[in-house]
Amino acid sequence: MLKGLICAGGHGTRLMPLTKVTNKHLLPVYNKPMIYYPLETLIAAGVKDILIVSGKEHAGDFLNLLGSGKSFGVKLSYELQEEAGGIAQVVGLAEAFTGNCNLMVALGDNIFEDLESIKKAAEDFRHNPAGAKIFLKEVPDPERFGVAEVKGNAIVNIIEKPTNPKSNLCVTGLYIYDNSVFNKIKTLKPSGRGELEITDVNNAYVSEGSMLYQQVKGDWTDAGTFDTLLRANIIAAKKFANNSNASH
Ligand code: DAU
Repeated sequence: MLKGLICAGGHGTRLMPLTKVTNKHLLPVYNKPMIYYPLETLIAAGVKDILIVSGKEHAGDFLNLLGSGKSFGVKLSYELQEEAGGIAQVVGLAEAFTGNCNLMVALGDNIFEDLESIKKAAEDFRHNPAGAKIFLKEVPDPERFGVAEVKGNAIVNIIEKPTNPKSNLCVTGLYIYDNSVFNKIKTLKPSGRGELEITDVNNAYVSEGSMLYQQVKGDWTDAGTFDTLLRANIIAAKKFANNSNASH
């Protein structure tokens, strides 16, 4: 079974003062709070059991907003990240929740226009639940992200925020992991910025030869800066308009 995790912690410092009294993932993105988007991504992938990890300052707000998950047709659980120690630390917090299942991880500030290909990726993983899968997108500013170096059909390396990126293929904030992810996280050491890096987790799969990838169809953005938050609003508005047209 594939369970889900949404990483909704961190301080959102790049969005101050918008994040002075609230969590970044509760900010509006067009007509919905930001966290609805990663939630809808996981739901589209057929994930029914989802853990939301946030810092403790605003944990109650997530509960008030999303409740048990009943209105979304899923079961939601909640967990605290005491300090923002990195995305891989958040994934580590999901170990007991995941049990012997596999895990699809969505960063709380990532917005995908097309969910069909993600749904297909999750179905494929359920049929062959081994290794990991990441989702790559060509971007004009790869130095802001994890960047994948690809040879043929294989990823050979991923570098977190490289000064001289070897490609323009950004690793987006959506990952599918088999259960070995938790043992991999236990071997990690904090990076220069003091965080357990998701890129180190991904490179552990790359070295094992068990990392698959696919390119993201449609638009994609994170929403952690003023400019990308604006972009997220535009993508969300486009999605909303397309869905409204499709239902008329
Ligand atoms: O958006 C994709 C990028 O996300 C990837 O390309 C990078 O490899 C990955 O490291 C990450 O980079 P960012 O620097 O943009 O990550 P950020 O610190 O903004 O965190 C992304 C989300 O994860 C954010 O919505 C909050 C959550 N988070 C982050 C940290 C550091 C947590 O829940 N806890 C944390 O400790």
